[in-house]
Amino acid sequence: MGAASMDKRTIITGIGHYVPPRVVTNFDLEKLMDTSDEWIRQRSGIIERRHVELGVGSSDLAVEAARRAIADSGSRTSDIDLIIAATLSPDHYFPGIGVLVQAKLDLPPIGAIDVRNQCSGFIYALSIGDQYIRTGAYKKILLVAAEVQSTNLNYSDEGRDMAVLFGDGAGALILEPNEHNDGRGILSTHLFADGRHVTDLWMEKPGCLDKPAVTEEMVRTKKFFPRMDGKNVFKNASVKMPEAVRAALQHNGLTVEDVALLIPHQANDRISQMVAHNLKIPLEKVMRNISKYGNTTAASIPIALHEALQEGRIKPGDVVALTSFGSGYTWASALIRW
Ligand code: UT7
Repeated sequence: MGAASMDKRTIITGIGHYVPPRVVTNFDLEKLMDTSDEWIRQRSGIIERRHVELGVGSSDLAVEAARRAIADSGSRTSDIDLIIAATLSPDHYFPGIGVLVQAKLDLPPIGAIDVRNQCSGFIYALSIGDQYIRTGAYKKILLVAAEVQSTNLNYSDEGRDMAVLFGDGAGALILEPNEHNDGRGILSTHLFADGRHVTDLWMEKPGCLDKPAVTEEMVRTKKFFPRMDGKNVFKNASVKMPEAVRAALQHNGLTVEDVALLIPHQANDRISQMVAHNLKIPLEKVMRNISKYGNTTAASIPIALHEALQEGRIKPGDVVALTSFGSGYTWASALIRW
């Protein structure tokens, strides 16, 4: 979905992120399960992650990130005309967190869309926001991506493959039309999915297939914890993210050399390195902050994007490539001229 030449491109006018203050190190996890700091670092690049205090929801993290993004854009909260919220870990089974963010920010009764595309949730949400801005339907969209993973991971030996990887956090953006038509903004988004791989990474239960949705059997068999075929996910992520970036570059008549910074979803540092290697992008041009936060699913790209900006790694005019892969499978890419 590329921008038609007459449209005003979508620009990011504000960005913020928030992670809960409680740091959980690999050494902390060693006390809970048969794992080691050495294994986690070598296999994933993660050193620590953040966990919420019990009772703090993904909507709360989203609100903190949203406040920061709104302040960064210099907007009045009352000018926001649409919320798009991405999470796989909503506070409740329903409704989603979009309406909670709206209520907690005391916004007027504007629309609130929830996006459930797991690790690709942010780019999927960005794609939706981009369409609305370019058509002129909305002028100031709050896009939030937030996850609380820590309350539903299996912190025993049988869940160690996943429990060490995931963390909590949120990122938020303000999307607006580029009134100057100076070439800056979202150049394209490309979305992909292949639902044949649902069982490779999923939280199978609870769902509507059982009556009632939560049964004693599912509690006994621990089917309410997410499960993953890590090797398959790893293999596919390493191939599909580069493919998605190539599709984006080709669509825009650009080459890998035009990319100033690649921000892959922070799933595993080894995956990020393989994506860079596959694309022949030097690691200096790849944003990697998984060591601090683990995999924060939908929130990982906006957190990384904000930190890249704070570190001065993106300059005006730079082309930034985003790409993600995760449960579904879903994968995606976006190109932004900053
Ligand atoms: O956002 C998208 C979602 N997720 C991902 O992208 C994750 C993709 N997958 C991965 O990142 C990797 O597959 C993992 C980090 C999950 C695992 O790394 P791996 O190099 O594929 O290890 P493995 O699954 O082959 O496991 C090697 C060994 C196994 O023991 P045996 O069978 O060789 O005796 C595991 O049981 O490591 C064991 N293991 C652990 N050991 C210590 C698995 N988890 C742990 C652990 N600590 N936390």
